Order: sequence, then structure tokens, then C-alpha cells
Amino acid sequence: MAGDKNSKDHGIGKYHDLDLKADVNEQLNEVYSNWADSYDDDNDNKLKTVSQPNTVAMLKRHCTSTDIRIFDVGCGTGIVGEYLLANGFEHFDGTDPSLEMMEHARKRGYENLLKLTPGEPLPAKDNSYDSTMCVGVFTHGHLGSEGFPELIRVTKPDGLICFSVNEGVWESGKFEPAIERHSKAGDWEVLEMTKQDYMVNEGVQAFYVAVRVLVC
Ligand SMILES: C[S@@+](CC[C@H](N)C(=O)[O-])C[C@H]1O[C@@H](n2cnc3c(N)ncnc32)[C@H](O)[C@@H]1O
Repeated sequence: MAGDKNSKDHGIGKYHDLDLKADVNEQLNEVYSNWADSYDDDNDNKLKTVSQPNTVAMLKRHCTSTDIRIFDVGCGTGIVGEYLLANGFEHFDGTDPSLEMMEHARKRGYENLLKLTPGEPLPAKDNSYDSTMCVGVFTHGHLGSEGFPELIRVTKPDGLICFSVNEGVWESGKFEPAIERHSKAGDWEVLEMTKQDYMVNEGVQAFYVAVRVLVC
């Protein structure tokens, strides 16, 4: 696995050890409930994760206004929310399977924080957000490209979806063909797809993708 040299020193090591034959969501819930209190410190100081500012910067590049409603899927402790606020976006909701992670997001400007159940529809109505973010969730053992239809469903036609994909699952998870399939089906048009730093201290990069949802 790319760049796991320090991974035993912090929470990320725990999800590298997932037993993929057993109930992964249950294991992830345990990982994140134990990691919640030290997640931000690991993110900033041990991993030096930059996916949140990178994805918010990508959103900003493709937005004509900051007066939009945003849904942060897999919001965790809400670091994306912190960068949204810093960039002038004030209206955003978050959703995550881990209540312990979301507890920390309360201080970060989310208007609503909603519990998500993996494998079930996202807790939002069709076409309800101008933009949907999904940062750090398309990664080892978490969510695959089967998550795309739900991101499309909750995003308004002409709205944006901005997400990161860990380089370590990009090929094995067949993300590029899945993105192309949605383009060919007329679900979205790809605005940007770049490979940049993700967890700097781990030497791990991510693909950052921005798509515009097409009017059906
Ligand atoms: C690496 S953290 C990223 C959190 C936050 N987006 C960030 O960038 O700091 C991954 C998050 O995905 C959540 N998660 C796990 N499985 C998920 C799923 N199937 N759908 C959405 N989120 C999921 C976890 O609870 C965790 O909070």
C-alpha cells in the first residue's frame, strides 16, 4: 500500500488493518469512534492532510457565488466546514456514519448534522443541494464508486460535486471508468480531474475531481 510508513502512529493505521471479509462498516465505526478525539491533531500535525483545503479550493474555482447550499458527505469532524467558512461559504450541512466524529463538527458552522447509514440512501431529498462534497471517503475500505449515484441524486441539476479519491484505490476501485460511465450516461460533465498531494507526511496523493451535474 502506498505510503504507510508512519501509519501505526495514528488512526489511519487502524483502517489499513480492516478485515474486508467481515462487516467493514462496523469496524470503521469503531475506528472512527476511537479516533474522533485525536483525528484533527493527526490530520494537521502527523499526516499533514491537505485534501480538505484542496477540495474547497476546487469548489471555489468552479462556483460563481458563495451563496449556495452545500452537502458535506462523510464530513467527519468537519474540517471541510472550516475551509468552507474561510472561503465565504456559510450554508452547509454534513452527514457521517460516526456520531463521535460529527460531535466535533458542531463547532464548525454546519447548519444540520445528519446520521448516515452506509448502503442506505443519503439523508437528503433529490436535487436539494447546489454542491456536494465528499472528501477523504473514497479510500481504503470506505466507499467505492457505487456511491456516485447518491451524490448525483441529492445535487441539483447544474450543481457541482467535488470529491477526492485516494490514489491507492483509484485503479483497484475502477474510479476512472466509473467517472467516464457517468459522463457517457449524461449524468455529469467532468470539469476538473487532477492528481495532487493528499497526506503529505505519508507521501500519498489523491485524485481531485469536480463534475457538473447535468439537467436530466
Ligand atoms: C478520512 S475521514 C474524512 C472526514 C472528513 N471528510 C475530512 O476530510 O476530514 C472518512 C470519513 O468517512 C466516513 N465514512 C465511512 N464510511 C462512509 C460511507 N459509506 N459513506 C460516507 N462516509 C463514510 C467516516 O465515518 C469518516 O468520518
